[in-house]
Amino acid sequence: RRIGPLAGKNCLVTAGPTHEPLDPVRYLANRSSGKQGYALAEALADLGAEVTLISGPTALRPPAGGAVSFCETARQMRDLALKAARSTAFDAAICTAAVADWRPAHVQDQKIKKTGKDDLPPPLALLPNPDILAELSEPSPSRPRLVIGFAAETETVEAHARAKLARKGCDWIVANNVGAGSDVMGGSENQVILITQDKVEHWPRLSKEEVARRLATTLADWFLKPHKS
Ligand code: C5P
Repeated sequence: RRIGPLAGKNCLVTAGPTHEPLDPVRYLANRSSGKQGYALAEALADLGAEVTLISGPTALRPPAGGAVSFCETARQMRDLALKAARSTAFDAAICTAAVADWRPAHVQDQKIKKTGKDDLPPPLALLPNPDILAELSEPSPSRPRLVIGFAAETETVEAHARAKLARKGCDWIVANNVGAGSDVMGGSENQVILITQDKVEHWPRLSKEEVARRLATTLADWFLKPHKS
């Protein structure tokens, strides 16, 4: 049995990008490295939590000790997350994954070939992907007690994050600026604004590990206080 202020708490973390295939060799994705999510999984486990990490493709070594499931696409990540939430009463779910918003509408079985030099490129029709954070936030007996989203924004970060909190139905939002020059996506540091039910905290620029430790500590403090469920 683990020890620490989060001992006995079950936490779900989604991390990394998703890859949305176009054909057997090509996919749509984004610049997420998975570092923030993996650091968070590790920080939660360090405080004693039982962590379930659901990860898209990354180059990272998964944290030791916890349960890790890997997936490629948003729909696979959604299925894993909802299945986990149905079988485990999560105290917290933290969606750090940078899920691709759209996927190619048609996935070709064979590599799409160039046929001639004057050919037009093939059209790219897209379909929306499921929103895992919004689905986890829906009222249901399997809803994690606290659902936390990340909001990567490039401008008016706090206002956009507040709108996202309301739209997604989650409880807290960790907002960060990923605008040009911020070097956050794929980088090793992050500067975040934490928006909870009753406070807004502007944190200084920190390593992703330090952001993870502070967030894990904030969660541990929250669980110590009495709350209506
Ligand atoms: O809408 P946006 O992508 O900016 O919201 C970011 C938050 O929503 C992140 O916590 C991300 O993990 C989550 N999200 C998700 N599924 C999606 C899109 C976003 O879980 N399809």
